[in-house]
Amino acid sequence: MRVLLTGGAGYIGSHTALALLQAGREVVVLDNLCNSSAESLARVARIAGRAPVFVEGDVRDRDVLGSLFAEHLVDAVLHFAGLKSVGESLAQPLRYHDNNVQGSQVLLEAMAQASVFNFVFSSSATVYGEQAQMPVSEACSVGHAPNPYGRSKLMVEDMLRELPASDPRWRIAILRSFNPAGAHESGLIGEDPNGIPSNLLPYVAQVAIGKLPELAVFGGDYPTTDGTSVRDYIHVLDLAEGHLRALDALQTRTGTHVWNLGTGRGCSVLDMVRAFEAASGRTVPYRIAPRRFGDMATCYADPTKAERELGWRARRGLPDMTRDAWRWQQMNPNGYR
Ligand code: NAD
Ligand code: UD1
Repeated sequence: MRVLLTGGAGYIGSHTALALLQAGREVVVLDNLCNSSAESLARVARIAGRAPVFVEGDVRDRDVLGSLFAEHLVDAVLHFAGLKSVGESLAQPLRYHDNNVQGSQVLLEAMAQASVFNFVFSSSATVYGEQAQMPVSEACSVGHAPNPYGRSKLMVEDMLRELPASDPRWRIAILRSFNPAGAHESGLIGEDPNGIPSNLLPYVAQVAIGKLPELAVFGGDYPTTDGTSVRDYIHVLDLAEGHLRALDALQTRTGTHVWNLGTGRGCSVLDMVRAFEAASGRTVPYRIAPRRFGDMATCYADPTKAERELGWRARRGLPDMTRDAWRWQQMNPNGYR
C-alpha cells in the first residue's frame, strides 16, 4: 500500500510517516515546509532504514497534485497539511481558510480525478468548543468552534460528511486528535515549534533546559482539582498508531466516520509540571498568571468508539510523554536547526 501524507514533514506527520514505513508501507510526503524542515524526513529515514519519497509543494497547487498522483500510484491519503495556531488564525482568518479549507478542497478534487477515495483527515478536539459535559464523545454537538482555526477544521469536516452521498466510493476517517505531546523514543524526531512555543509541553521543556525563565500557568482559579486547566495529552506515537488503524478500518468501511484520538484521562497544568520535573530531574519554575483568552477549564476525550471500532487505545502515559519530550529537547536544543 502506498500512502500520501500531506504535511508529512511536520510534527504528527513525521511520526506517522515513520510508523507507516515501519509497518512496511510505501510513503510519499507532500509538504511546502512552511512550518517544518526536510531534516525531519532525513531523520525518519535514518530510524526506519528507508526513506519516504518527498515532494516539496503546496496542497493548493493543482499541477503539483496532478503530477504527483500520475507519478505515484497512491492508495490512500492522510491529510495533515494545515496551519494550526489559534492566535495566528484570529489575526489572519483568511489565510487560515485559504490554506486549511481551500487546501483540503483542492486535494479532494485531485484525489477524485486520480480515483483515489481513501482519505484520513487530521481534525482536532478544538471542534468541540466549550462543552457542558466531559468527557466529549463523537456524539457531542459541534459547530461552536471558538476561533477561525477551529472553524476551518469544522468546514472541512462538513465537506467530508457530504462527499459519500455524491460518490459512494469515498471512504473517509475524521480523526479528532486531543493534545499531542512527546517525541519518538530515539530523540531524533520531535516537535520543533517556531520561536517561543505556545503549547504547554514544549514551553515547559524550554523552561527546564533554561532557554526560558519560567512557565506562566494560565489561570489558577478554574473549577478543577488544583485550579489549573485540564487537557487530554496523548503521546504522538499513539496518535500515529491511531492514524494507521483508521487507514486499516477504511478497507472494510465506506462513508464518513469520526473517531476521537485521546487517552480519556485529564491532566492539569500542574500535573504536567510535576511529571516533567520527575522525568527531567530539573525544577520547572512557574507562576500563576491570568487565564488565556479563549481557554476552557477542562477538555478530555471519550476514546471508547476508537477502542471499539478501531481496536486502538493510547498505550503511553505522562511519564513516557515527558521523558521523550525531555530527551528530544536535550538532544536537539535548537530543534532541527
Ligand atoms: P505541523 O505544523 O508540525 O505540521 C503541518 C505540516 O503541514 C507542516 O510540515 C507544514 O509545513 C505543512 N503545510 C502547511 N500548509 C501546507 C500546504 N498548504 N501545503 C503543503 N504543506 C503544508 O503541525 P502538526 O502538529 O503536525 O499538525 C498536523 C495536523 O494535525 C494539522 O492539520 C493540525 O491542525 C492537526 N492537529 C494538530 C494538533 C496539535 O496540537 N499539534 C492537534 C490536533 C490536530
Ligand atoms: C491549543 C489550541 C487548540 C489546539 C491545541 C493543539 C488554544 C486556545 N487552543 O489547545 O485549538 O487544537 O492547542 O495544538 O490555543 N498553558 C499554560 N501556559 C503556557 C501554555 C499553555 O498554562 O505557556 C495551559 C493552557 O492554558 C491550557 C494547557 O496549558 O490549559 C494546554 O495548552 P496548549 O498546549 O496551548 O493546548 P490547548 O490550549 O489545549
